[in-house]
Amino acid sequence: MRSRLRMARRSLLLLATLSFSAHASATTTPASSAALTLPSFFSDGAVLQVYDEGDARSFVYGTAAPASSVALTLTSSMPAMPFSRTYRTMALMDGGWAFQIDGTYAPDAQGRHAPHYGPFSVTVAAGGERRTFSDVRFGDVYLCVGGEQMLRPVVGAGAAAAAARAPADIRRFEVAAASSAAPSSDVRGAWRIGTASLANFSALCYGTALALARMDPAGNGVGNTTGSGKLCAAHRCTMPIGVIHAAAESTLAAWAPAAVAAKACGGGGSGRFNGMLAPLLRLALRGVVYAGGEADLAAKMAPATYADCFAQTVSAWRDSGQIGDFAVVFTQLGASTSGAASALRLAQATALPRPFAEANSIDTTAMAARYDTSNTSEVARRVALGMVHAAYSKQEPGWGWSSPVLEHVRVSANEVAHGVFLSFAATEVKGGLRLVDRPGCTICCKLGGGALVQASSGGLSGPWHNATSLARMRGKDWVLGARFAAAARLVRVAAGPDADCFLYNANGMPVLPAIANVTAAEQIRLPEPPGILASRESYDAAAITPPPMGFNTWNRWHCWVDERLLKQTADLMVSLGLAAAGYRSLNIDDCWQSQRALDATGRHNGTIDADPTRFPSGLRAFSEYVHAKNMSFGVYTSQSEVTCQARPGSWEHEALDAKTYCDADVDYIKIDHCGGGQWSRNNISWMLFRAALDKCAAKRKRKFWMSCSSCGPTKCLLDGSCVGKPSGCGQWIAKGRVSCDLWRTGGDIQARWSSIMANLDMMQLMAPVQNAGPGGAGIGHFNDPDMLQVGNIGLTILEQRSHMALWCLLGGPLLISTDLKQISAPAVAILKTKGLIDLNQDTLATQGERIGGNQTFGCEVWCKKLSGGRLGLVLLNRSEETSDITVTFADLIIAKAGWTLTDLWTEKSLGKQAKSYTAQAVPSHGNVALLLV
Ligand code: GLA
Repeated sequence: MRSRLRMARRSLLLLATLSFSAHASATTTPASSAALTLPSFFSDGAVLQVYDEGDARSFVYGTAAPASSVALTLTSSMPAMPFSRTYRTMALMDGGWAFQIDGTYAPDAQGRHAPHYGPFSVTVAAGGERRTFSDVRFGDVYLCVGGEQMLRPVVGAGAAAAAARAPADIRRFEVAAASSAAPSSDVRGAWRIGTASLANFSALCYGTALALARMDPAGNGVGNTTGSGKLCAAHRCTMPIGVIHAAAESTLAAWAPAAVAAKACGGGGSGRFNGMLAPLLRLALRGVVYAGGEADLAAKMAPATYADCFAQTVSAWRDSGQIGDFAVVFTQLGASTSGAASALRLAQATALPRPFAEANSIDTTAMAARYDTSNTSEVARRVALGMVHAAYSKQEPGWGWSSPVLEHVRVSANEVAHGVFLSFAATEVKGGLRLVDRPGCTICCKLGGGALVQASSGGLSGPWHNATSLARMRGKDWVLGARFAAAARLVRVAAGPDADCFLYNANGMPVLPAIANVTAAEQIRLPEPPGILASRESYDAAAITPPPMGFNTWNRWHCWVDERLLKQTADLMVSLGLAAAGYRSLNIDDCWQSQRALDATGRHNGTIDADPTRFPSGLRAFSEYVHAKNMSFGVYTSQSEVTCQARPGSWEHEALDAKTYCDADVDYIKIDHCGGGQWSRNNISWMLFRAALDKCAAKRKRKFWMSCSSCGPTKCLLDGSCVGKPSGCGQWIAKGRVSCDLWRTGGDIQARWSSIMANLDMMQLMAPVQNAGPGGAGIGHFNDPDMLQVGNIGLTILEQRSHMALWCLLGGPLLISTDLKQISAPAVAILKTKGLIDLNQDTLATQGERIGGNQTFGCEVWCKKLSGGRLGLVLLNRSEETSDITVTFADLIIAKAGWTLTDLWTEKSLGKQAKSYTAQAVPSHGNVALLLV
């Protein structure tokens, strides 16, 4: 549930596309000779950035005779997966043309659309001419930039070692080091497959690709982190990594946009804007590795100047690229102890007021001891970790591969120990923070050696004082001494000058440089402790609202939401019979908002506005459309200042926003947690929302659902598994003035079996909260295992069936989140399975729990208490082998001899069974769902 600015930036692509033709001339040479041209990047062996669920789409572009017709045909070279698509356009008056390539899918054995990564041949034809390039693949494309650092190639013993470890699927586009005083539309370069000519390729760049390939976070491809590799493997296709190394001998201010050049970055016009990049920035990329370091030290810039320049440069790349978003990882030499090195790092801190939240921010920083091959593996590991973090792991908090981010700083006078508390985001410090010292060193781990921490009593321009007292950890806070507190209005944190001494988390990810305002300690009292609830049976079942069912945009569409898509979805909910099956709430997730309107004082402090390009008719009109279909309508916000996609959040605007939603006749609000701080702060925000939503509900006499993030089990381990009891929030989240109707219990669900299982396990730990007993909070409030992934690429049909059966048994919300235009008939059938929906909507509103089975062998029995003394069961085979699963009735929640069983998938009766039931040959990842009467 961390911020995902990546998607937000990618969404700019939509807008960029609209204005694409207007900009085409900026980076393509006028076609004076009327010849068909393509940049040298588009040649045999090219890797184009894969388009999958919310990523940026790749462009293929070039020039042709003005106003001539241009056609591009993409044809599969794999006989087993035939595919062909032709795109057509017309060259502009300056000859520029461009195609935006959609995702490529081909039907798999079950008739679903499976990703097709190639190889393809691509033919572009215009004015009787034709260019064909073959062996084109879709994969993750990384661009490595930097000055002379990019010119340190893989050489000597390092080259042999790198070659020995190289998987087949790293492809390199090598840009020849050249110098050009004027911008042009192309850079000379060539694609290389295999390890020949590695000696010309940047060691840092290649090492990062190797580490990414080895890391393979999703566990199913060559560094493939999209989670689609499993399906692809069935067709023997893999997704390659494409690395581009753009050496930047020709770094010239003349190439930079005026705003950057005006900053005279780097001094004397020899600046930091890598001119070689300009033509390449029209490509879609997964990430950019940006190596800075020694060359910048020479300039000896003041941190503030450097910070400005640094932010301008990255922002200029991103803005001029027209490719939506990409992650930026900054790497820097770490071995220097000069003052200039510190200045450089403090500049990073100053440039990153809120990592992930600012448009120009660097996503992560990796410290490289050296860039050459002698230390490739450690350096590359750090860069690759940073890259995975920046590009992916914010979607996968369970991976824990995240740099600690300074969340906020507060000065406390009433704590036992007075001091300055630096709080780092909780998800990133799961394993705790520690200062890693060089062996035998006793000095570097003092502040100023291991980490630079400075406070300013004035403003950004200082004066800045070094923190001198030793730091100690307290929970996830890093506490500085009281003396330091006196000076603090702003605090900034950066890595110290000693390469071997950093403040790390358990994965070796160094703390990200950042700056934060100091706030006074919060004096917020938690809501009253809950009283003892009556047992569930004594509740009036008729008064309980069953868990919500509907649709949410996030899993499939991420930020690619607009009015047209939503209307189509509403129509399809009806025509596919999903609304009739009970899925009635149509919920827009993040990215529907643009900004806050101006208030009377001219600040963006007014009401939250729908993005006018996405929802031109506004929220109210859309809500009417949905209500006219007899469905209800939900929107999304975050309780912090910004949402997970850097849209305006609701912190300190709760009542105002609730009124906006009430005026728009919204029925359901999802309040996310990105950037949200501690419980005290969360509670305040929830209470304010609850009060305002209740007011609205009373006025219109209709429930206003409040879905919160999040309240999960206490203790999660670094491998993503969780143990322990429901955390403190379980005591109050459904009670008193907080009273959320439902709350997320785990990380963002992905279309992968492991993710489904991880969220299932979280729910098991949280079951006591929903299943009220003494200290529990449930009764008509729901643990939320996150949205459904049924219909999405990444799960087999068997896995989708188990996912659905388990989510129904858990008894939380059922929110479909897939592309209803493309959904397969089997997936629709899964979603509409009547017996399972009844299991979910049962009036007792309990959560199902794991009660037994042979978990060592991966067989589990899940049981849900239903109204009328009935039980629901899901027998789950988690193992990789087919297996029989037996349920012994004596183990059930209601011990009774003799039950009549019905198969909830087929609705067939299995007759009366006396003591036990054995489901035979349950396939791996399959399930059997039963009703016991
Ligand atoms: C968080 C939530 C997701 C989704 C995104 C939107 O990660 O957990 O469900 O709402 O934010 O940015």
